[in-house]
Amino acid sequence: MPNVVVIGAQWGDEGKGRIVDLISEKVDIIVRYQGGNNAGHTIVIGDEKIVLHHLPSGILRENKLSVIGNGVVVDPKVLLAEIKELRAAGYTADETNLRISDRAHVIMPYHRAIDLARESMNGKGRIGTTGRGIGPVYEDKAARRGIKFADLIDPDSLSSRLKEVLEERNLYLTKVLGGDALDFEEIFEEYSEYGKELKKLSCDVSTLLNNSISNGQNVLFEGAQGALLDIDFGTYPYVTSSSSGSGGASIGTGVSPTTIDTVLGIAKAYTTRVGEGPFPTEMSGELEEKLRQAGGEFGATTGRSRRCGWFDAFAMKYAAQINGISWIALTKLDVLSGFDKINVCVGYKYKGKELSSFPSTNHVLQEVEPIYEEMEGWKEDISDVKDVSDLPVQARSYLENLEKLTRVPIYTVSVGPSREKIIFLHELFS
Ligand code: IMP
Repeated sequence: MPNVVVIGAQWGDEGKGRIVDLISEKVDIIVRYQGGNNAGHTIVIGDEKIVLHHLPSGILRENKLSVIGNGVVVDPKVLLAEIKELRAAGYTADETNLRISDRAHVIMPYHRAIDLARESMNGKGRIGTTGRGIGPVYEDKAARRGIKFADLIDPDSLSSRLKEVLEERNLYLTKVLGGDALDFEEIFEEYSEYGKELKKLSCDVSTLLNNSISNGQNVLFEGAQGALLDIDFGTYPYVTSSSSGSGGASIGTGVSPTTIDTVLGIAKAYTTRVGEGPFPTEMSGELEEKLRQAGGEFGATTGRSRRCGWFDAFAMKYAAQINGISWIALTKLDVLSGFDKINVCVGYKYKGKELSSFPSTNHVLQEVEPIYEEMEGWKEDISDVKDVSDLPVQARSYLENLEKLTRVPIYTVSVGPSREKIIFLHELFS
């Protein structure tokens, strides 16, 4: 089994959680490397639906080690609630199967306050963030005023760091954003308690992972969000604030790029996006509503309606190039059943000219016209299909076309939400 990175190949919500859950059976360690509780990975086991925000999806498997890397930003209150919920559901989430990097940055109350205040101030220019404080915590990390997990679990360190930082952040909150100042004592009391509860989980993740790999263990690096939300390569400024592409796996864990063998990109059979920002293949009206309802396209983290559109092979080819995607796991093919015609975007036109590469600026992306190839749809319910040869001929043509247009082979196709509703086109991780 190789060391594999799993990333979202679109704008997030591709169904990464269930694919990670599936592959995690075959690896020893599952590690999250970026993002925070802006993510919401949904996994369906029998009648049970579990949504994970902070914890790697591997936490649901027995005898696996789940790790939160240094690139992740941790909201300790949310993490503790998630751990409690999992334990109540009968899963193990303690020092025997869970570790958190002492270098991970901590989401503090002022990060959430700043995120929310900015979004409500920005009107038309808002990003449509999840409101979890993600942008502000990564900003503080880059500005060298962050609080790390190692500080959280050490009361002296937490006290001195918080004093230094809070004064400046309160000035920003009150004078610039017109919000209320936050109280040092209150935060310190609450967060030092969280530190006490979480201390046992703290570790040097880079050393742990490198030693484990040297000893022959395999690691699955679990990305959050998606390639087009990446801070560098996404549709900036409508992106998240971390490296959600495959490169983030190395930066966010302290494992070198040379130890990563393969990259699996998860893509929906169509496209969705939450929040603001350009979306060339976005649908509208009844067609969009039909897809939204059929796919249950409502956010796992914020409950917001997701914007829906056709599969964008041009964007996917770009995502594959940047991230070295070697295989696609295609999700939700069953949702497309019942559409008479299915469009696939094969390129973009800007001011009447076809573009040769994915645009790097927002104003161009906002104005591009997608070039579509129209394909025949299928009427059959495919949710019980177990072998690709039993799919309707139109569905098989659709898959073949996606492989041709993106130049990436398809590894799996999902036809329903539960663990067993997956068709394997190749055997990769035996
Ligand atoms: P933030 O990550 O909360 O700062 O939000 C920035 C942008 O990324 C917004 O458009 C969010 O809707 C989007 N975003 C963040 N996390 C996810 C996710 O897990 N799935 C889909 N979109 C996300």
